[in-house]
Amino acid sequence: MLFRRVRFWTVIFLLIVYVIGILILTVLSLHDTRGTGYKSGSSVQSRFISKSKSFEYGLPGFKPRLRRPKVNWCTDLKYIHPPRPTVALASFPGSGNTWLRYLLQQATGYHTGSVYKDYGLRKNGFPAESVANGSVLVVKTHEWGPRARCNFSKAILLVRTPAAAIQAEFNRQSGGHVGFAAPDRYKRLRGRYWQDFVASQLRGWQTMNLDWLYNFTGPTHVIFYEQLVSSTEHTLRTVLDFIDVPVDAKLFECAIQRKQGIYRRQKRALNFDPFTEGMKASLKRGEKRVLDAIYSVAAPTAR
Ligand SMILES: *[C@@H]1O[C@H](CO)[C@@H](O)[C@H](O)[C@H]1NC(C)=O
Ligand SMILES: *[C@@H]1O[C@H](CO)[C@@H](O)[C@H](O)[C@H]1NC(C)=O
Ligand SMILES: *[C@@H]1O[C@H](CO)[C@@H](O)[C@H](O)[C@H]1NC(C)=O
Repeated sequence: MLFRRVRFWTVIFLLIVYVIGILILTVLSLHDTRGTGYKSGSSVQSRFISKSKSFEYGLPGFKPRLRRPKVNWCTDLKYIHPPRPTVALASFPGSGNTWLRYLLQQATGYHTGSVYKDYGLRKNGFPAESVANGSVLVVKTHEWGPRARCNFSKAILLVRTPAAAIQAEFNRQSGGHVGFAAPDRYKRLRGRYWQDFVASQLRGWQTMNLDWLYNFTGPTHVIFYEQLVSSTEHTLRTVLDFIDVPVDAKLFECAIQRKQGIYRRQKRALNFDPFTEGMKASLKRGEKRVLDAIYSVAAPTAR
């Protein structure tokens, strides 16, 4: 009799410990959920975001998370004092803005900000995430429209080819800033999910870039992600010139040495081409519209 009682209470005790454990894990994982960093735009956009947040790995607390190394800064980061006119770093998601922010912080020792509150970025390398005024070098935004533009006096528009940007955003939404989408995600709903994703993202890519190109009235500096990759040093210099910060030669050299950083996805080839011929045709059309606008409105630095 006594034995059964002890066993009963042991089971109850273990159950309680188990439930508390699950609760703690759930709270921790909720706390760690990043801002999606995509507020305006269409409802299609947010539908994708909420879909991509579904629990792919079963319980929310058990999503495997890669441990990210700490950033090794060339110097301690500080705020700009006194504050200066606010510069936008406008880009479509997946165009390399985190990497450019990283390079700018390394090269100048100043923080960069954002109109979002990405918890993961704030904790690791971008403590001024969510600061959106002239006390930071540039302010990241993926937004468009009059309200998104009105607080900025200058803008850097970072443009990446739509196919690459869309795929990077697809990876980010399911794998985070450095992870990847699993190959079978492209086949979800018999490929419809990916197809809708490409179509709606391409519309967003065009609208966002065209809006900043045509409707932002302040000085605008257009750079291409591909150019930032192939000639990092030169492109970074043009950006620093444009935002008019003095460049310390030592810091700049250090930034170039550490240009890789920790926020770049390593290349990982899929063993199939996710873009159909139809997708490629519309991507090409969209890209041409934006490039035509770039060359007619602003003169970007030589490619
Ligand atoms: C900039 O924004 C941050 C955070 O919102 C705030 O603490 C700071 O006082 C602001 N600085 C200026 C100069 O407005
Ligand atoms: C920006 O300008 C374009 C072309 O002039 C116009 O069609 C579009 O509606 C404008 N967009 C916004 C959000 O103001
Ligand atoms: C623009 O700046 C003002 C004053 O700092 C702020 O109240 C407002 O929310 C900002 N607007 C946007 C769209 O960020």
